[in-house]
Amino acid sequence: MIHLKSDVLSKNIGKDTNIWQFCVILPEAIIGSNCNICACVFIENRVSIGNNVTIKNGVQLWDGVTIEDNVFIGPNATFTNELVPRSKAYDDDNLMSTLVKTGATIGANATILPGITIGEYALVGAGSVVTSNIPPYALYFGNPASHQGYITSNGILLNLQKKDKNGVVHQLK
Ligand SMILES: CC(C)(COP(=O)(O)OP(=O)(O)OC[C@H]1O[C@@H](n2cnc3c(N)ncnc32)[C@H](O)[C@@H]1OP(=O)(O)O)[C@@H](O)C(=O)NCCC(=O)NCCS
Repeated sequence: MIHLKSDVLSKNIGKDTNIWQFCVILPEAIIGSNCNICACVFIENRVSIGNNVTIKNGVQLWDGVTIEDNVFIGPNATFTNELVPRSKAYDDDNLMSTLVKTGATIGANATILPGITIGEYALVGAGSVVTSNIPPYALYFGNPASHQGYITSNGILLNLQKKDKNGVVHQLK
């Protein structure tokens, strides 16, 4: 479903993907199947999004952002692709890529600096500023975001010793 009040210029959109009101999607963007792109999302040209991805309201995905399958991006999370931007000084050579790997979650209002990779099933806490790569299954939060624990693929939060809140040790998978 592509809502009539969105402006979707890309034809590269998979089956069963829903795109809601006031989204703007540029023509070269690629979006997989069964995604939910909530209202007021902007997606630039050189953006690739996998399958089963949820992008909550108010997110902008700039050139160079790649989102793999089953990723959740919370409302108003902010991506960046230029480390030292200046008005009217556009140089593609300065653009840096961002990769969000399978199953990762980015909390509401987190900011991801350019050139970052967020590993498989990692979780970034709400409001965090991500300044370095995040390993798979890691829980990061704060400003700057730092390693606070781990998370399993089905969303059980673990401390740095990989224990859940009941003290049970988990394998990461
Ligand atoms: C990161 C997160 C998963 C941690 O959950 P948790 O382990 O249950 O966290 P707790 O409430 O036990 O907090 C543990 C400590 O971390 C701090 N903390 C928790 N989340 C934080 C965050 N996002 N940023 C900074 N500090 C945070 C708490 O203040 C607490 O500190 P204290 O020990 O000094 O009191 C959760 O807080 C979070 O940010 N979830 C994302 C929510 C979201 O964005 N959802 C989007 C859908 S709408």
